Amino acid sequence: MDRILINGGTPLEGVIHIGGAKNAALPLMAASLLTGETLELSNLPHLVDISTMARLLAKLGVEVGMNANAPGGHAGRTFALTAKTVTHTTAPYELVRRMRASVLVLGPLLARSHRARVSLPGGCAIGTRPIDLHLKALAQLGADIKLSEGYVEAAAPGGLKGAHIVFPMVSVGGTENLLMAAVLAKGKTVLANAAREPEVSDLARCLSAMGASIEGIGTDTLRIKGVEGLHGANYAVIPDRIETGTYAAAAAITDGQLELRGARPELIGTVAETLTEAGVEISETPRGLGVARRQGTLKGIDVMTEPFPGFPTDMQAQIMSLAAVAEGASMITESIFENRFMHVPELCRMGANINVHGASAIVRGVPGLAGAQVMATDLRASVSLVLAGLAAKGETVINRVYHLDRGYERLEEKLSACGAKIQRIKG
Ligand code: EPZ
Repeated sequence: MDRILINGGTPLEGVIHIGGAKNAALPLMAASLLTGETLELSNLPHLVDISTMARLLAKLGVEVGMNANAPGGHAGRTFALTAKTVTHTTAPYELVRRMRASVLVLGPLLARSHRARVSLPGGCAIGTRPIDLHLKALAQLGADIKLSEGYVEAAAPGGLKGAHIVFPMVSVGGTENLLMAAVLAKGKTVLANAAREPEVSDLARCLSAMGASIEGIGTDTLRIKGVEGLHGANYAVIPDRIETGTYAAAAAITDGQLELRGARPELIGTVAETLTEAGVEISETPRGLGVARRQGTLKGIDVMTEPFPGFPTDMQAQIMSLAAVAEGASMITESIFENRFMHVPELCRMGANINVHGASAIVRGVPGLAGAQVMATDLRASVSLVLAGLAAKGETVINRVYHLDRGYERLEEKLSACGAKIQRIKG
C-alpha cells in the first residue's frame, strides 16, 4: 500500500488550483439516469470515487464518454453520460461497499425505471450512517420498499407521486435522492428541512437545466413540480469548498502564503470566518482567494459542526490540526457524525494535547508537533494528518493513502509545487 512521506517545517508559497467538488459531482453523475439524452458534466475532479460512480453507472446501462486530460491537468475532466435505456436497476454490494454515495442512484432509478435494488451501505469509519431517511421519504412518494438479503428493493409500478416531506433531520444525501426522485414524480413535492449544502443547490441547478421545475434552491424548503421527462444539458461542477478550506488551513499551519485559484468565497463562509478568528488573513484575488497567516501566532477557536451554512463536518479534522498548534485552548464539537474523532489519537502521537469528552474535543495548543508514523481511517482524518505533518518537525509517514486518493486530486503534486517536502512511496 502506498504511503506519504513528509518532511515538515517548510512554509507553503505559491498557487494551488482548486478542483471540482467531489460531493457535488457524485449526485450530478447519478442524475444522468433521469434522461435518455446526454448529460455533459465538466470540471469533474480526477478521483477514485468519481471512477467508482462511473463504473456503477456503466453497469446500469449509462454510456460514459470521457475527455480524460484537460490541458495542464487543471481544468478537470468532462464526462458525457448517456442513459438511453437503463438496462439494469441493481447497485451491487461490491460497489456500494466501496463508496456509500452509490445509494444516490436509488432516487433516479425509481423515478425513471420505477424500480431499484440497491445494496444497503452499512456503517463506516465515521459513524453508523443509516439511510432510513431516504427510504421513509421515498415511501412517502409512493415507493414500496422492502429490505431483503442486505438490499433495498424499491418499486413504484405506477410511478412516484408528489408528497409533502418533512425531513426529521438534515440529510445531504437524503435531500439529493429525493430531489432526483421528485423531479419525475406526478404532481408537486415539497421537501422541508432540506439540506442547503452548496452541493445540493448545484444538483438542483443542474436538474433545472435539464428541464426540472424546482423552487427554493439554496433554502431549506424545496418545491418541485414533477415533469414528464428531462432532457440533456451541459453543466460545470462547482469548485470544492472542502479542498479550498483544507489548503487554506495548509497555508495557515505552515505560516505560508497561497493563492487558491478557482476558489469561491461564497462557498466557504463559516470556514473563512473561523480561520479569520484564528488569525488567518483571507482575501479575494482576481482568480480566487489569497490565504496567509496574519502576523503573530495562531489563536485557539471554538467550533461546532453543523449543516450548511454552519461549519462543515468535512473540515473538522483539518481545523483540529490547526488548533493543535494555536495559542490557547480550542473546543471542537462534532454534531453530525458520532465517531469522527479518529484523527485525535494520531495527532496526539505527533505531540498534540487533545482530550475528547463525548462529542467535544478540548485542544490545548502546543508550540510544535513532531513527525511520526500515522494512519487514519477516513478521508478528512487522513488529510488532517498531512496538515500536521507539514507543520511538524522531522519526518511524518502517513499510511493508508487510498483514503486521500478518494477526495484529494494530486495532493502531493499540488503541495510540492508550493515548496512542501512531500512524496509518495509506492508499495
Ligand atoms: C454527505 O454525506 C457527504 N458525502 C459527506 O462527505 C458529509 O460529511 C455529509 O454529507 C455531511 O455534510 C457526500 O456528499 C457524498 P448526511 P451523507 O445524510 O449525505 C444521519 C466526505 O468526507 N442520517 O447529511 O451521507 C447520518 O448518519 C464525506 O467527503 C441518518 O440518520 O450525510 C449523519 O449523522 C464523508 N439517516 C447525518 O444524518 C439517514 O437516512 C448527516 O448525514 C441519512 C443520514
